Amino acid sequence: MGSSSHEVVEKSVPLLIVLIIVAISFGTLVELVPLIFSKKLAEPVAGLEPYSALELEGRDIYIREGCNTCHSQMIRPLRAETERYGHYSVAGEFVYDRPFLWGSKRTGPDLARVGGRYSDDWHRAHLYNPRDVVPESNMPAFPWLFKRELTGDTLPKRMATLRTLGVPYTDDDIAGAQAAVAGKKEIDALVAYLQQMGTLIKTRR
Ligand code: HEC
Repeated sequence: MGSSSHEVVEKSVPLLIVLIIVAISFGTLVELVPLIFSKKLAEPVAGLEPYSALELEGRDIYIREGCNTCHSQMIRPLRAETERYGHYSVAGEFVYDRPFLWGSKRTGPDLARVGGRYSDDWHRAHLYNPRDVVPESNMPAFPWLFKRELTGDTLPKRMATLRTLGVPYTDDDIAGAQAAVAGKKEIDALVAYLQQMGTLIKTRR
């Protein structure tokens, strides 16, 4: 074969490195660039609203308590998942989620479509002591959520920050936020957050 161009590449480490980088960069660009310019991914699904003041408090409590370390919020488009949890997750459902809580570790079930699956009372009983409603559960209990009251004092600032990231809160939303949550219990906020999850897309269940 003599010195085919392939042999030249294989025998020169610097050239091989450069060409590998070019090849990988090309592959990456082909996958990434269309996503960056695809409007569909950043477009909210029909009916999507920013989290209400109470739901946003609930979401922050969800993060504080580490619920997302055991629960994902992302249903993959696979039969086994859609049969169990409902319609697979789509990008437009998450455009106001900062940070995303998709996750991949499932010690407990995925919660992306848990909204409306149980009553508020079920959630309250379950969060107070999971074993009261699911005897074999190894989920921790969160009884303090029933005692702690929300003050909402940092909520307007948090909402204003989200607005700089593109969440369309109005001045009225922000001005009324503290009054909307003050005096409510943390459990009320968490249940409000859980009950709206994934409800915009009809599930099979
Ligand atoms: C250590 C892991 C762990 C943590 C942390 C955890 N969970 Fe769970 N969760 C589970 C397991 C396991 C189950 C399944 C058994 C059951 O229903 O209790 C579950 C079930 C659930 C369910 C019922 C889901 C369904 O479709 O039946 C909800 C709702 C839920 N968890 C919410 C929460 C919330 C909210 C938090 C944070 C306050 C939380 N979990 C924290 C492990 C966890």
